[in-house]
Amino acid sequence: MIHIKNQKAQDGMRRAGRVAARVLDDVVRFVRPGVTTREVDDYGADRIRELGGRSAFLGYRRYPCHLCISVNEEVVHGLASDRRLQFGDIVSVDVGVHFEGFIGDNARTVAVGGCRPEHQRLMEVTQQALDAGVAQARSGNCVADISGAVQELVESHGYSVVREFVGHGVGRSMHEEPQIPNYVDRRGRKASPQLKAGMTLAIEPMVNAGRAGVRVLADGWTVVSEDGLPSAHFEHTVLVTAAEPEILTCLAPAL
Ligand code: MF3
Ligand code: CO
Repeated sequence: MIHIKNQKAQDGMRRAGRVAARVLDDVVRFVRPGVTTREVDDYGADRIRELGGRSAFLGYRRYPCHLCISVNEEVVHGLASDRRLQFGDIVSVDVGVHFEGFIGDNARTVAVGGCRPEHQRLMEVTQQALDAGVAQARSGNCVADISGAVQELVESHGYSVVREFVGHGVGRSMHEEPQIPNYVDRRGRKASPQLKAGMTLAIEPMVNAGRAGVRVLADGWTVVSEDGLPSAHFEHTVLVTAAEPEILTCLAPAL
């Protein structure tokens, strides 16, 4: 069943989304050469607490960190460690926050200190893929319209979408129906769930510079590209309305 959020729940989702966006923006500005990913995670944990939320990731299926911090060929679910970020790395930061009963989920990839052109292109295309997906989050469309827009944008630039991990409905729980793949399967738009006003969706393209294949490291969490080439991840939580999609994980003054 796909939850339709009433007015009150939509306001709750707006508040949670704003907190998650505030934290993500602060965390990516904390990122610089020489900081360890544990320091980044600690900083994120502090900001979440200061804003009155709690991490939606910590403890989820025993996930051990507050944020997901994924460096270079790491795709998603990177664990905080003593690893120091280096000039020229790219780092994907994923922030999920519980706030007053609702969850905001968002992610962004940034360069550490400076950026190579091929990294910049990868990040730009992934951001554009998210934008293209969000633009399809309209009442009357279906999930596959989002998936198809993301996939087409990514593949037209010669990059690959990761298959094994997908976007999702989000609300009082982090993972609600529907799943939102970043590709369209053989069934296409047939049997793809219809989007309706009041649905709240986490749209999150994970884009590999090389091949789509991924594997999970021995830590049980960190997902890396099989070919070792870099990967980027952008995510927003979005409200489907009767008109334009509304990005809930946006920087805005309190409601
Ligand atoms: N944004 C990711 C997701 O929606 C982050 C989950 S990390 C986990 O699944 F640790 F909580 F699983
Ligand atoms: Co998510």
